[in-house]
Amino acid sequence: MPQNLQLAITAFGGPETLKLQQTAMPEPQEGQVLIKVALAGVNPVDAKTRAGLGWGAEKIKDMLPWVPGFDAAGVVVQDTGAFKAGDRVAGRIVEGGGYGQYLCASADALSRIPDGVSFEAAASLPVAGLTAWQALELAGLNAGENVLILAGAGGVGHLAIQLAKAKGANVYASASAANLAFVSGLGATALDYAASSLETQISDVDVLIDLVGGDVGEAALACVAKNGRVVTVPTITADRIIAAAQPLGIDAKGMLVVPNPEQMGELLTLVQEGKVRVEIAKTYPLEDGVQAHVDIQTGRTRGKLLLEMPE
Ligand SMILES: NC(=O)c1ccc[n+]([C@@H]2O[C@H](COP(=O)([O-])OP(=O)(O)OC[C@H]3O[C@@H](n4cnc5c(N)ncnc54)[C@H](OP(=O)(O)O)[C@@H]3O)[C@@H](O)[C@H]2O)c1
Repeated sequence: MPQNLQLAITAFGGPETLKLQQTAMPEPQEGQVLIKVALAGVNPVDAKTRAGLGWGAEKIKDMLPWVPGFDAAGVVVQDTGAFKAGDRVAGRIVEGGGYGQYLCASADALSRIPDGVSFEAAASLPVAGLTAWQALELAGLNAGENVLILAGAGGVGHLAIQLAKAKGANVYASASAANLAFVSGLGATALDYAASSLETQISDVDVLIDLVGGDVGEAALACVAKNGRVVTVPTITADRIIAAAQPLGIDAKGMLVVPNPEQMGELLTLVQEGKVRVEIAKTYPLEDGVQAHVDIQTGRTRGKLLLEMPE
């Protein structure tokens, strides 16, 4: 009987509360697909949830030990409905569980990985890529408009720059000095947020995609045109940014990324065609997931961090 090695949040607290556990193979329920996971994405929400913060912690507080991981890429184990054993799939896994060798995911959340696209790229896309896609859509970004993306070097930001460019927008992105060349290599005009305040570097943008939130997100409202649009992505400070935008005549919205296999399929095709590139800063073995959480919560990751499952 194969075992299922997982990395679980055992209590709310620091990265050390993540512990390896062995469980039985999960049994797929109606509408689910059993997947042997190759790689899982590590996202800031995983660390916030582990720390007991935000919607994620609220949802799982009575479910500990709980296995995080909202991104997964791997191989279908048994034929089920639309999927056949051996199919390479990836998706935004609402129930979590990506930090484990096997998981059962809703078939509705999965997309086939096209030939030529690696598990690494596919595992990077569900949360970060769909967030970038859905944020730009929610903002209604049009060709020819000016968009400012805060945190252009991060998991969501580096994909949002490329998608906004593909829409024909003029893209500006904030980054630290170390990431300016990376961000401009993706097609954005890079703004060094530490050199001087952003509003002295750019003003009257049509759209702000705020991937930092808090004081940084609020201060960046000064860069937005009256009647401009803002999507503030970090959920914990969204209400605050929306309230601060209102008296400025700016329409600000929060969001929560949802699975969307069609959008995911389009992202995978863009990667296959070489039109979007995925930056992977580091891949850790599952056993080093504690270090991956130490690293993601610095807020300094360039691109994505991944966890690789043992064979
Ligand atoms: N609502 C949702 O559904 C949803 C979905 C996905 C993500 N999120 C949230 O959105 C945020 C971004 O996610 P992510 O995955 O992109 O995070 P991430 O990969 O951890 O972002 C790291 C990046 O942030 C940049 N950064 C840090 N402070 C900055 C600042 N003051 N100004 C500009 N850039 C700064 C860093 O670049 P430098 O080192 O160059 O500063 C680094 O490259 C997180 O809060 C995450 O939880 C929400």
